[in-house]
Amino acid sequence: APMPEFALRLVEWQRQYGRHGLPWQTREPYLVWLSEIMLQQTQVTTVLDYYPRFVAAFPNVQALAAADEDMVMGLWQGLGYYSRARNLHKAARQVVTEFAGKFPRSRIELQTLCGVGRSTAAAIAAFCFNARETILDGNVKRVLCRLLALDGDIANKKFEEKLWCIADALLPQDAADMPAYIQGLMDMGATVCKRSKPVCSVCPMSDICMARAQDCIAELPRKKTA
Ligand code: ADE
Repeated sequence: APMPEFALRLVEWQRQYGRHGLPWQTREPYLVWLSEIMLQQTQVTTVLDYYPRFVAAFPNVQALAAADEDMVMGLWQGLGYYSRARNLHKAARQVVTEFAGKFPRSRIELQTLCGVGRSTAAAIAAFCFNARETILDGNVKRVLCRLLALDGDIANKKFEEKLWCIADALLPQDAADMPAYIQGLMDMGATVCKRSKPVCSVCPMSDICMARAQDCIAELPRKKTA
């Protein structure tokens, strides 16, 4: 069922209690894309250490596309998952050659870039262009499974499809709310609805959380129990 209350509450909560002032909280797709790739498998505190140096060396997609691979890898050294850096360089060249140096605005086109999956494409489209597209990373899966007391296996492909549909249905009606909404999903999962020791006492959804009503928060989300 459509649940407009979820999006409205999340947007208000993000504006008051969410994370602000992070260097990638801009509407510039190059800066958002770079941060989302770094944040895929790396903690915020670590990214804060690397991101400014990377942006200083490559302030725009043209500079990154023109850079030597060794220079890119050198600035990535220590972040791990080095295929991300190689894909980043390839994707920068794609933006220059296939999109005339301007990031595309649609989630579908963004997904054609090397290393950019549906969730990363949605984050860029929502933050930079107010697109009504949802993310669905591990944190968001956990939030949704708990909110709706869904006990499906999050490693299961069909259940994941169901979660994408549910996440789509929860999006705000007002596209202007998209950046705060997506940041709110990320911030809720990272700071309130944590995997261990969730802080339900400060959660804006505690009164509508079905896992809380059913006292099964610790069991969700469920992972393939073999
Ligand atoms: N993790 C992934 N994207 C993020 C963002 N934009 N802010 C904070 N954490 C994130």
